Amino acid sequence: MSLDTTSHKVPVARNTADLRAAVAAWRAEGSTVALVPTMGALHEGHLSLVDLVRTKADRVVVSIFVNPTQFAPHEDFSAYPRTEAADAAKLEGKADLIFAPDAADMYPEGFSTTISLTGVTEPLEGQFRPTHFAGVATVVAKLILRAMPDIAIFGEKDWQQLMVIRRMVADLDIPVEILGGPIMREADGLAMSSRNVYLTPAERKAAGKLNVILKETAASVSSGRIISDATRDGAEKILALGFDKLDYLEIRDAASLAAFPDDRPTSPARILVAAKIGRTRLIDNMPV
Ligand code: PAF
Repeated sequence: MSLDTTSHKVPVARNTADLRAAVAAWRAEGSTVALVPTMGALHEGHLSLVDLVRTKADRVVVSIFVNPTQFAPHEDFSAYPRTEAADAAKLEGKADLIFAPDAADMYPEGFSTTISLTGVTEPLEGQFRPTHFAGVATVVAKLILRAMPDIAIFGEKDWQQLMVIRRMVADLDIPVEILGGPIMREADGLAMSSRNVYLTPAERKAAGKLNVILKETAASVSSGRIISDATRDGAEKILALGFDKLDYLEIRDAASLAAFPDDRPTSPARILVAAKIGRTRLIDNMPV
């Protein structure tokens, strides 16, 4: 095993052999293992996932990999913040190991496999980022199969992603428990995201009101308004805040993300939004 123990205080595995050797040593001591997949640029939201999963497993691996296959050509792959040293400092005393492979290690020449799901991947993000979830599902399957953790945890901010991963793990009989961690919010309720650093001060102010509109729209449906009326009003309010484009504002079945044919929730529901302000696309969601 040749872990990188010099770059940061938390040891770093850069390939599968080193990751597996570390996990095998923990297994030999009888420890349980959790994986927190991330793309780095860690904020309080990620750290809350590490803290939460630490209460459920003896050892915690945080993976940091900006996965090229989940970005479309016009998206922000090259601009995506890469802050390994700062991320590693934030993980001191929290994570036992960082797994930070490079793209050639994850996708060596000849790599030919893609995991693509139907159903839950199709609406919402699937309409606007048609190749995104295949990239996510494939990389998450690889990360889980490399680490073979007992538990893997994902933030609820990417609610549809969490549902896609649960579906994939169930469909492929991957022996891992998938946990969701609650959305961490700034003081004004803006959902924490690595992309919030792109916001100008004026955009940041408007972005902080998105969650208020979600709450109001969800509350009006809970008190009997039909979904289409409530979301139409919510959409107008979002655009009035100064958002440039609303990709969607929808209330869907929380697990399958199917629409409600009667225009009223008939099972546990979630309100989900994606909207663009300036060059930043924000997503958020909450229960209805
Ligand atoms: O949510 C993310 O940061 C990414 O989509 C994930 C799950 C780490 C896969 O690259």
